[in-house]
Amino acid sequence: APDVPLANVKAHLTRFQSIANANGGNRAHGTSGYRASLDYVKAQLDAAGFDTTVQAFTARGATGYNLIADWPGGDPGDVLMIGAHLDGVTAGPGINDNGSGSAAILETALAVARADLQPGKHLRFAWWGAEELGLLGSTHYVNTLPSAERQKIGGYLNFDMVGSPNPGYFAYDGDGSSGPGGPAGSARIETVLREHFTAIGVPVRDTAFDGRSDYGPFIRVGIPAGGLFTGAEGRKTAEEARLWGGQAYAPYDRCYHAYCDTTANIDDTALDRNADAIAHAVWTLAGTGGGPPD
Ligand code: PHE
Ligand code: ZN
Ligand code: ZN
Ligand code: ZN
Ligand code: CA
Repeated sequence: APDVPLANVKAHLTRFQSIANANGGNRAHGTSGYRASLDYVKAQLDAAGFDTTVQAFTARGATGYNLIADWPGGDPGDVLMIGAHLDGVTAGPGINDNGSGSAAILETALAVARADLQPGKHLRFAWWGAEELGLLGSTHYVNTLPSAERQKIGGYLNFDMVGSPNPGYFAYDGDGSSGPGGPAGSARIETVLREHFTAIGVPVRDTAFDGRSDYGPFIRVGIPAGGLFTGAEGRKTAEEARLWGGQAYAPYDRCYHAYCDTTANIDDTALDRNADAIAHAVWTLAGTGGGPPD
């Protein structure tokens, strides 16, 4: 997999910050800041050759939107999905939560296009609306997907908060080594998500696979899933600070759901490592196409 340029990921965060600044300070569901965020991501994907779809839904009296971007090619009966929520809370600009995941998967998608990747699986990226209101966009997507389409989705990768300023390096516990685990196939996803960190010598710890982000609706219908996370309101333990550096006993993200979740609220090293791990997982899990050479 290519190295995902950190500068490109950060340029997307700068744009999300500008959008918030110009739209009352946030990018929350039902606001002009949300719609501008979606239009920005969509324009990048359209220019790169993705087939994009905007799926509207109604939540709390406002229209919400999911953005779905299909990379042409691959086995239409074996779909790998990669998603992040694009909305934030009303308190602030939502740069770590979840500009970080949104920007990291956007830059991964653009890397797929730059490489003209011809994967074995069909790749579908998603930016979810209204996660902060209770996973509403991703739930709408899964619940309205015809069962024949649902059966084609072989896996879902979720990225929600991947640049926390006092970062941990966490993978959702898909293999059940520290909890109930996920649908069959989730173990393989966890393994692949951890591989890039193993290669660079960064230890990874499990985090709960309890449905606290947009993978919840997927695992509830039995779709294997996984994801990475650098921590929210929880506090880094002394042992974790020895493993990863940073500040023991302090929150992973002291600006979680707050006004100060700005572009200053990002650890560049964590963001870079996670973006590269996402690309590694997409390349590895999508596999290589078996079609004729072009
Ligand atoms: N979904 C939470 C939010 O957006 C953040 C979170 C992600 C918490 C992953 C736990 C695990 O606020
Ligand atoms: Zn990198
Ligand atoms: Zn949040
Ligand atoms: Zn989030
Ligand atoms: Ca595990």
